[in-house]
Amino acid sequence: MGALLSLDGVVAGYNQGLVLKGVNLSVDASEVTCLIGPNGAGKSTVLKTVSGLLKPISGTVCFDSEDITSLSTHERLRRGIVHVPQDRSLFPAMTVWDNVLMGAHIVRDHAAIRSRLATVVEMFPIVERRRQAHAGSLSGGEQKIVEIARTMMLDPKLILLDEPSIGLDPRSRRLVFDTIRELTKAGRTVLLVEQNARSGLAVAQHGAILEGGVVKLEGTGLSLLDDPLVAQLYLGAVAPTTSVASRATGVLPSPNSISALKEPQ
Ligand SMILES: Nc1ncnc2c1ncn2[C@@H]1O[C@H](COP(=O)(O)OP(=O)(O)OP(=O)(O)O)[C@@H](O)[C@H]1O
Ligand SMILES: [Mg+2]
Repeated sequence: MGALLSLDGVVAGYNQGLVLKGVNLSVDASEVTCLIGPNGAGKSTVLKTVSGLLKPISGTVCFDSEDITSLSTHERLRRGIVHVPQDRSLFPAMTVWDNVLMGAHIVRDHAAIRSRLATVVEMFPIVERRRQAHAGSLSGGEQKIVEIARTMMLDPKLILLDEPSIGLDPRSRRLVFDTIRELTKAGRTVLLVEQNARSGLAVAQHGAILEGGVVKLEGTGLSLLDDPLVAQLYLGAVAPTTSVASRATGVLPSPNSISALKEPQ
């Protein structure tokens, strides 16, 4: 299958300056693409340029063979791009069921809502089991699953998941990664940002490393897991001696690029 999403030369940032300096990235349909990189590299910023929260200064974002660069977040939602942000986004005082229903707030077709609810209940048993519980009473992992379940109410084509396993215990993390696998089995496409690079790449067909505002290295999830330099820098192998950037350019990394690297969780 071809690319469902492609970013071409995307330059974007905030008042303080540019964060993305020409990002090229393709996300194939029905696959998980995992984006990793140091803290502050701009991974969340990439997701924001896809969901429309941030407009690029230049470059294009294409989705489903359409240039969506100038479309609003609402128009992108309607096309099936759903963003699950890094922070918790459920309404804690509302029930699990109402939170899931809120996912369909822009859907007017009642038959579609009923059929999507049936899909949610089948794919995510917790939604039925804890339907009357206040979302805020669920564990962090359970809340993340409900957040993902809620996206299904929009019948998403592309789900943007920003650090879904952050702060979770190992069992919850496994549940989240299993859920991500299920999403692609159900024909959804996932662009995943993960601090837990090993688990993220393991679940991904395609991986990309964002460094210095550009995608420095891409490959299959497995090939990146097997790459000794990626292992050194991102997977908690022995101390790094170089950066992905320096391998591409032959220039030694600045101390900053090493000190900014993440410790594995
Ligand atoms: N709303 C904002 N306003 C101003 N600067 C921002 C904003 N959001 C992010 N930044 C800055 O942009 C840079 C990239 O941030 P971003 O959140 O995209 O990085 P990240 O790779 O997701 O990092 P992390 O791994 O810590 O989540 C950082 O320097 C950050 O401080
Ligand atoms: Mg982030």
